[in-house]
Amino acid sequence: MTTPALIVHGGAGAMEHTEACAAEIAARLHAVVDAAHATLVGAGARAAVIHAVALLEDDPLFNAGTGAKLQADGVARLSAALIDSSDGVFSGVINVERVSNPVAVAERLSRERHHVLAADGANAFARAQGLPEHDPVTPQRQREWREARRGDTGTVGAVALDAGGVLAAATSTGGVGHEHPGRVSDSATVAGTYAARQAGVSMTGIGEQIVSHAAAARIVVRCEDGMALADAVARSLDEASRHDWRFGLIALDARGAIVADQVGDVQTMFAARRGEWSTSFAEASRVAHAGGPTA
Ligand code: GLY
Repeated sequence: MTTPALIVHGGAGAMEHTEACAAEIAARLHAVVDAAHATLVGAGARAAVIHAVALLEDDPLFNAGTGAKLQADGVARLSAALIDSSDGVFSGVINVERVSNPVAVAERLSRERHHVLAADGANAFARAQGLPEHDPVTPQRQREWREARRGDTGTVGAVALDAGGVLAAATSTGGVGHEHPGRVSDSATVAGTYAARQAGVSMTGIGEQIVSHAAAARIVVRCEDGMALADAVARSLDEASRHDWRFGLIALDARGAIVADQVGDVQTMFAARRGEWSTSFAEASRVAHAGGPTA
């Protein structure tokens, strides 16, 4: 039997435009990890990452769901994806509007014939599913939009491994803020969210670069081919460092090893395991490699 493990991130750029201090963000992430860990033990990896990401979407501090950044036309368009190793089905929603939990839309899409929907089609699907209309725009994000404050990062995500050996990953984002209306983020692509039998990955950072690198899928496929997770991440980030790219990731393998790492100057992000948190990918990775208890 496998020891369950769980890691979440509050996004590169979690500190962009926020007055929240590091300890507050860490406390929120801890609460999410604790709640999702109970789900992990009771209902498995897939349910746990959905739960973790939904809680992060509900927290206006993070750039996903409620509190998502606004695109250049002042509209919040949300994207999320979900995959688990038991059936290998990737499902995602791109630029959906007026929902509270885009990860729930992605989950519903996993049961449909077509697993990825965008924009109007995604909106119609959410309504047809009976998901209640919800305005995710907060006064803080409106202020940022009026002041034309743009970021270039922001996303939340979770990766979990359950006792049955199933790995799952989910990611959700409001994009970068003030982007061209309709811009597609990495989060609801296999570059931003991917898992298979040997590893799962959730990315955060500059979506265009993450997609150009096919980052999450690149790491996971290396693990499927027999490479250790730490080596797969190191090689993939080394390749990315040949470009002037900036992104980070959380990853978990089938034995419960956790890696959190980054390339380039990624603004502070937060990764949490049960009882542990960090303010940087490098620190998260150090904690993970130290081999403390996993959530
Ligand atoms: N990774 C978030 C985005 O670029 O939209």
